[in-house]
Amino acid sequence: MTSNTAGRTSITVLGLGNLGQALAAAFLSEGHPTTVWNRSPHKAEQLVARGATLAATPADAVGASDIVVVTVLDYDTVREVLRPAAGALAGRTVVNLTTGTPGAARDLGAWTADQGAAYVDGAVYAVPQTIGTPAAFVLYSGDEAAYREHRPTLDLLGEGTFVGPAPALSSVYDTALLSGMYGMFAGFFQAVALAGTEGIEAAAVTSPLVRWLTAAADALPAFAEEIDRGEYTTATSNLEINAVGLRNILATTQEQGLSTDLLAPLQRLFDDQVDSGHASSSLSRTIESLRAGR
Ligand SMILES: NC(=O)c1ccc[n+]([C@@H]2O[C@H](COP(=O)([O-])OP(=O)(O)OC[C@H]3O[C@@H](n4cnc5c(N)ncnc54)[C@H](OP(=O)(O)O)[C@@H]3O)[C@@H](O)[C@H]2O)c1
Repeated sequence: MTSNTAGRTSITVLGLGNLGQALAAAFLSEGHPTTVWNRSPHKAEQLVARGATLAATPADAVGASDIVVVTVLDYDTVREVLRPAAGALAGRTVVNLTTGTPGAARDLGAWTADQGAAYVDGAVYAVPQTIGTPAAFVLYSGDEAAYREHRPTLDLLGEGTFVGPAPALSSVYDTALLSGMYGMFAGFFQAVALAGTEGIEAAAVTSPLVRWLTAAADALPAFAEEIDRGEYTTATSNLEINAVGLRNILATTQEQGLSTDLLAPLQRLFDDQVDSGHASSSLSRTIESLRAGR
């Protein structure tokens, strides 16, 4: 493995957008010889001033290190950047931290393997400012041996967790976690819009909303257990009472002159379960309507 006299592994970072610059800076801060490449080379200036080497081409950058971290716009761009460097990839580990779909990760993993390189796919949970801090974490999947070998270096970015050997897994986790986040944002927009119909400021409703959401999140592990067991018996908050509750929210939303676009689809799922004879089952049984594609 290429390293400097202090034993720090050489790293290549392809892509110096907001995230790539933060990743390269984190490696440099810990004394790793860092080679960078970006389509627009001026974005490397600060990193070069801190000791990074700017490569003229992706192939030169790949040839400089055993670990090649890629973070560009999307997977099409990853391919565009790596294709001319294909001849230099054999024996190296590609750590792709670009956001994409599971299918794209699967295809890129296969293509990378064809070039004789190990493929690790990662999903970053951080903003550039939190890279390298305890707030950052990264989910990895793909070549486990390569991940374990490079883990001490990769952990400089944020705590890593390996979620499985299929390249697509980190992307599936990523999409799942981000879906949950957007669901929460949808609820926030709904709450603020409703409050606003009576002149309540967003900040005023957000304070109790965050308290309520934090308490509501405590219900999720129990729901997850019910779903994993496929056992939806409940003595408390069943589908019927939730379907009635959500109908009241939709009626209020309409009464106040707002769009029901965000919550009406959820009502359809609750109603589907109630109509299928599961009124007394746990709310978590909603997942079955989603799985059925209804
Ligand atoms: N920023 C975050 O907090 C964050 C967190 C998690 C995951 N991510 C993911 O990380 C990836 C990068 O995000 P970012 O925030 O760094 O994006 P960004 O600031 O918009 O940077 C995009 C990068 O892609 C490069 N690029 C775009 N089109 C290209 C092309 N045709 N050929 C070569 N390079 C091209 C850009 O090069 P130029 O500089 O030449 O335009 C730049 O290096 C995305 O997939 C994003 O979803 C970002």
